[in-house]
Amino acid sequence: MKVSILILVFFANYSFAYSIFSPLVNLLNEERLIVTSEDSSPIKVTETDKLKFRRNGVRFIDITNHQNWFWSTKEEKVKVPIYNYPTNISYSKQVEDLVEDINKDNLKSNLAEFSSFYSRYYKSDNGLKSSTWLFERLQSIIADNNNYGLNVTVEKFIHDWAQFSIIVKIEGHKTPEDIIVVGSHQDSANLLLPNILKAPGADDDGSGVVTNLEALRIILSQGIKFDNSLEFHFFSAEEGGLLGSLDIFRSYKSQNKKVVSMLQQDMTGFIQKTLDAGEEEHVGVISDNVSPELTEFVKLIIDSYLNIPWRETLCGYACSDHSSALQNSYPSSFIIESEFKYTNPFIHSTGDTLDRLSFDHIGEFVKLVLGFTYELGFHEFREIL
Ligand SMILES: *[C@@H]1O[C@H](CO)[C@@H](O)[C@H](O)[C@H]1NC(C)=O
Ligand SMILES: *[C@@H]1O[C@H](CO)[C@@H](O)[C@H](O)[C@H]1NC(C)=O
Ligand SMILES: [Zn+2]
Repeated sequence: MKVSILILVFFANYSFAYSIFSPLVNLLNEERLIVTSEDSSPIKVTETDKLKFRRNGVRFIDITNHQNWFWSTKEEKVKVPIYNYPTNISYSKQVEDLVEDINKDNLKSNLAEFSSFYSRYYKSDNGLKSSTWLFERLQSIIADNNNYGLNVTVEKFIHDWAQFSIIVKIEGHKTPEDIIVVGSHQDSANLLLPNILKAPGADDDGSGVVTNLEALRIILSQGIKFDNSLEFHFFSAEEGGLLGSLDIFRSYKSQNKKVVSMLQQDMTGFIQKTLDAGEEEHVGVISDNVSPELTEFVKLIIDSYLNIPWRETLCGYACSDHSSALQNSYPSSFIIESEFKYTNPFIHSTGDTLDRLSFDHIGEFVKLVLGFTYELGFHEFREIL
């Protein structure tokens, strides 16, 4: 009798433990398909392998959910159109006015709240909570600032994991089919044990998110009626291999949407390594795996509107969500807080906190977004050969 009770207790506990650990083990063993360079074939990996790759600095696109696309359109994908990007700025007075409005207290308070989530890991309940916070913050930014009645919407883009992406659209007045996208990723991840460990993700990429929130607030509060459509994308699951942005740009492509420019910002706040090296504060302009013509325009914007210069830097394959846009033949650029070698060494850990960041530096990236969107928002896009 006693023995059988013991056995029963043992099995009850065992199955209890099993019910907890088995999903975790299954999760980590889940098979995925990733691509790690332009020329290599996709490789089969587990979630555990993916984390290992990331910790070793190997970046990739997870194409598990888009394999048909990946195989069927390899030629089509790489044909990115070239547009007549402006070679001179036209709105310096207007942009200077907008720049006056940049409020660092907004940047700080938004980032304090956004980085206070235990983690924003895309497959976690916390990641869902942080995207819900971001969605509600966007709703209130729109409600509080849209005094000129711009046609602006905010929508969730649902994926097959917990955290959703968010898209804010400001409909263009003349050529709404021409879309300008500014993006950043909302998820964070502690790459040691993302489901368990804390990941404040203040710089990566909380800084990019609050940069775009502030630019959006200013554009709405000034009631800028752009000719072209402007969209702010807050991607989920960048850390999982550009999963959210790939879902979105696949969907855009299949709807034949026309994105004429996409600007990704991933980390805009850390300058300590630059200063420690005795170098001057600057913006890192990524020069590989981007659209060269659009990137020339980005440099023009930095020269025209920022207090600090740019420096070119390499980032490698699949470095951030602009790659998903580019893979779907949408012209894209990517800017980051500094040359790659001086970027934040604390990312993907508990150390990626707000106190390590410069809000003056983040403010420079808000100027960049304002200049970029203003000059392109009224631009007449033509494809050139
Ligand atoms: C653009 O600016 C450059 C240098 O500032 C100038 O030489 C050129 O004439 C300008 N082009 C146009 C079309 O205004
Ligand atoms: C507002 O923009 C959406 C697309 O973003 C469009 O479908 C809708 O017709 C627009 N509404 C008005 C009143 O212009
Ligand atoms: Zn990032």
